Amino acid sequence: MADFSGPLPGAEPDAAALIAARPHLTMNADHGLMLEGVPLAVIAAELGSPCWVYGAETIRTRLAALRAALAKAGLGATDFHYAVKANDHLAILAIMAAAGAGADVVSGGELARARHAGIPASHIVYSGVGKSFRDLQLAVGEGIGQVNVESREELAMLSAVAEAAGRRVDLVLRVNPDVDAKTHAKITTGLAENKFGIAWAEVESVYAYAGSLPGLNPVGLAMHIGSQIVSVEPFDTAFARMAEMIGRLRAAGHTVTRLDCGGGIGISYEDGSGIALDDYAGVMAKHLGSLGLKLMMEPGRWLVGPAGLLLSSVIIAKKTGNRAFLVLDAAMNDLVRPAMYDAWHGIVPVAAADFGTPDMPVDVVGPVCETGDTFAKDRLLPALGPDALVAILDAGAYGAVMSSTYNARPLAAAALVDGDRWTTVTPRQQVTELWSRETVPAWLTETAGETG
Ligand code: LLP
Repeated sequence: MADFSGPLPGAEPDAAALIAARPHLTMNADHGLMLEGVPLAVIAAELGSPCWVYGAETIRTRLAALRAALAKAGLGATDFHYAVKANDHLAILAIMAAAGAGADVVSGGELARARHAGIPASHIVYSGVGKSFRDLQLAVGEGIGQVNVESREELAMLSAVAEAAGRRVDLVLRVNPDVDAKTHAKITTGLAENKFGIAWAEVESVYAYAGSLPGLNPVGLAMHIGSQIVSVEPFDTAFARMAEMIGRLRAAGHTVTRLDCGGGIGISYEDGSGIALDDYAGVMAKHLGSLGLKLMMEPGRWLVGPAGLLLSSVIIAKKTGNRAFLVLDAAMNDLVRPAMYDAWHGIVPVAAADFGTPDMPVDVVGPVCETGDTFAKDRLLPALGPDALVAILDAGAYGAVMSSTYNARPLAAAALVDGDRWTTVTPRQQVTELWSRETVPAWLTETAGETG
């Protein structure tokens, strides 16, 4: 099984290589590390750290590149639904809306966010293995574009909701193609043993069942085999299987007009190029291009991952025994990916003066009271002292959305850069906000005399 653990120690890209592989980042001799046209030190000086920084122009450029690769392969009409779970900030959703992308949501909360950001309900698809009755009511009531149904049981529920609302709902069946995406076990979703989708052998009977239920209009299939997939081969296999299933359904007299190809395109957290978009578009065109389908996609990480970073400063540089630790003010409660998946993220200094020859291996950790609160082990970094800023790269996807307030650490601030302008898009959470929804029952504070 592949994992996220990154290159072997000693083979890790240095800061110069990491920056060179990311066109939106530059190291400026006067201003230090810049995201698009804005020095990160300027943002940290105003907002403090830790702080998320996202690049709007970078996101637009990446969406355009994905569209261009599909167009080149003859798939220009593919419909994009951004996977909101990757980064659900309203500003990010507004960028997607302005660029004409829809949304892929997995909860009533994500649906509400997407609508609030101006994405029309008709351009939203609703995925997920456990949609509640209430959330389906909300989705159907809003006139959602499509529901990606994952089970026979969910079909019955959706039919009841549609009938009660007097609507006919377009749906696709999420099929489990039983393909190994060769990614981290915690985020692979297309194996028969996974909880997702409808088992291959049952697709035809479930499709027929969907067509028999009132209020439902089955229009096609959906797949999503996992996330952070870095080779084209699992897509090649899965698309071939989907084409085969569409052929079978059509031969049985069913109408199949849509295929939602899901997300999952991996990025390079190191200094490589990740999955080549032309290869991805190529296998999509090869298997699906001539089937007369409306094709759809739900990319998340590929669009926003590289466009964001977590800005943090050093609290203390500590040496104990034979180990050196850099304790940052960011922690696993902010960015949980290293603790949760052993994920490798590039870490680079922000000040030009700190940018030089890496001179010592250091464990980069957060202040949370768990050994798992480690961003990197034996990372080669220049000697950094208290208050030195670092940027933890490629944190735009599955970063802030997975944050918690563990150890009573307020949620970090966020800034949006757009070319050479920037603004705060989330202020740092106040400590008092941590308990603002909590109450203490009166009886706990009554004296013994009063209660007796
Ligand atoms: N569509 C469906 C149905 C999904 O479940 C997902 C992601 C996507 C689209 C978007 O996948 P993407 O293009 O972003 O790979 N927290 C993990 C990733 C979990 C992905 C869950 N599903 C991480 O930090 O790596």
